[in-house]
Amino acid sequence: MAFPQQRLRRLRATEPLRRMLKETRLAADDFIYPLFLKEGAGEKIEISSMPGVYHHSLDSLLKELEEVSALSIPAVLLFGLPGIKDETGSEAFAPKGIVQRGIMAIKASFPDLMVITDICLCAYTTHGHCGVIENGRIDNDKTLGILQKVALSHAAAGADMVAPSDMMDGRVGAIRSALDGNGYAELTIMSYAAKFASHFYGPFREAADSSPRFGDRKSYQMDPANPLEALREIALDMEEGADIIMVKPALAYLDIIFRAKEKFGCPLAAYNVSGEYSMVKAAAARGMLDETNVMMEMLQSIKRAGADLIITYFAKEAARVLREG
Ligand code: PBG
Repeated sequence: MAFPQQRLRRLRATEPLRRMLKETRLAADDFIYPLFLKEGAGEKIEISSMPGVYHHSLDSLLKELEEVSALSIPAVLLFGLPGIKDETGSEAFAPKGIVQRGIMAIKASFPDLMVITDICLCAYTTHGHCGVIENGRIDNDKTLGILQKVALSHAAAGADMVAPSDMMDGRVGAIRSALDGNGYAELTIMSYAAKFASHFYGPFREAADSSPRFGDRKSYQMDPANPLEALREIALDMEEGADIIMVKPALAYLDIIFRAKEKFGCPLAAYNVSGEYSMVKAAAARGMLDETNVMMEMLQSIKRAGADLIITYFAKEAARVLREG
């Protein structure tokens, strides 16, 4: 049947009808809010490359979490900026490191808030790479042992979920076996499974002070041209024991999100990364677009493509819109 029997505009005629027939619905439950914890006391400090995002001390963190939990955002993702860096990133697994203390502080005050931690070395190494360096190259297998220690230290501090973002081969399996062997068989792994070597991470690297001091990340993060390789990465991480897989970045990679969801049907997260956030903020600050509506449309597109969870710096603002309309 075609026109005039079929008129799809009939279904768009009124606001209640449009609401009833909406195929994709965002909710605060979809969001994971990233937070940056920095050594030192006192007030939060705004990150210049990411308006509205802050470096938090352990003092300012708890105030922030009151807002997060009042907005019913279920989870946060923690990144740490350590006081000292070294060649192997050993502060990343210090029992009293900034992230470890952060986890303990959050769990003491907000036991129901899900604490997810980023597992990587780039913010902790002097060279800024995500793995350790041997003879000028990133040594995959030497890095695995360190990542295991980082994951165990986060588990011991009380993390609910760990999220390895380093892109070393075999790290999900290595972390899974370390957790299982130490009494943390129930702890969840969300793997940055298809993580591309993206220029959209620029603002984050300023925020986390994690830019590589030489070279780039192309020998471990994926080529943005390669969707089939992304599916292989995801399949391997699932075999190694990942509970949730992630595609990162989100907006320029909606096809990957869609294909991953179609093929695997497993819980899938997408990381709406710093560059995707900051370009909206910058355009809105210059009056070039309507920030709130663009934000909601972007988040909806990520969910529509197949993401169950969205890691986003917009989480609080979007949750507020969903609550207040
Ligand atoms: C650490 C890491 C990065 C991001 C999350 N974890 C940066 C990178 O890989 O260089 C990027 C997040 C963002 O841009 O918002 N490896």
